[in-house]
Amino acid sequence: MTKRTVFITGGASGIGYGIAELMVKQGHHVIVADINEKAAQNAAEKLSQLEGTASAIAVDVCNAEQVAALPQTLAQSLGAHTVDVLINNAGIQHVSRIEDFPAEKWQQLINIMLVGPALLTQTFLPAMREQNFGRIINVGSIHSVVASPFKSAYVAAKHGLLGFAKTIALETGDCDVTINTLCPAYVKTPLVEQQIAAQAKENNLTEEDVITKIMLEPMPKKQFISVEELAETAAFLMSPSARNITGQTLILDGGWTAR
Ligand SMILES: NC(=O)c1ccc[n+]([C@@H]2O[C@H](COP(=O)([O-])OP(=O)(O)OC[C@H]3O[C@@H](n4cnc5c(N)ncnc54)[C@H](O)[C@@H]3O)[C@@H](O)[C@H]2O)c1
Repeated sequence: MTKRTVFITGGASGIGYGIAELMVKQGHHVIVADINEKAAQNAAEKLSQLEGTASAIAVDVCNAEQVAALPQTLAQSLGAHTVDVLINNAGIQHVSRIEDFPAEKWQQLINIMLVGPALLTQTFLPAMREQNFGRIINVGSIHSVVASPFKSAYVAAKHGLLGFAKTIALETGDCDVTINTLCPAYVKTPLVEQQIAAQAKENNLTEEDVITKIMLEPMPKKQFISVEELAETAAFLMSPSARNITGQTLILDGGWTAR
């Protein structure tokens, strides 16, 4: 397998870290890019104990200047690294009915999960084109294809990501660059652990009830999606067999949308 340089936003935690782990085990070089610098450094140190190599970089994906400077920053701080694979994974959640949703929070979710992936694609695509290889993998969500109440900003951002990926797929038809979106149902990460606790409090339920009656209820398979499943799907999208899969939505939802 060709060794790749894989840039993972939000790579210090949860799904991003899980994808990073598999990539490093497969011998790729992973750049853990996260707004939390300390966590990114800790993650890269842990990853470096596996077979491959990893480095860390602090970046806020919605800071246009920081993102535009990344190729130069990477060259200066980590040596020459052309990013072969961009994984747009950074994300946050905010749950509130629209009437009470703070406008700045709405904007922040859109900036992190929709504008950020666009800025990063803009930054790394030219070099991908030049070397005639690139893979852009967005981490969308089951909420890229269905809605849940009180998550208007998240659902809008994640739906938007699919339109973005389709557009870039059309714009990159002339080279070996693909862009796809992974759409998992619930994955047990810090982001979801917080939601379980918050929903239990809000709905006066036990955490176990939140899991079974709210989160896993719409899924015929009644189980969380694992980070390993997502990482293996990302690895498949990086492989030569997936070179003609582009602009697609890969849904890992335990049958949620089969209803
Ligand atoms: N956990 C789930 O059930 C689930 C389901 C579907 C989709 N997702 C999506 O998966 C992605 C990862 O979520 P997770 O559950 O691993 O969350 P997480 O909270 O464990 O990790 C998110 C990471 O993103 C980083 N981050 C936040 N804002 C950033 C910014 N502006 N710039 C750079 N980094 C930033 C955080 O520091 C953190 O390390 C998100 O896009 C989320 O929407 C998660």
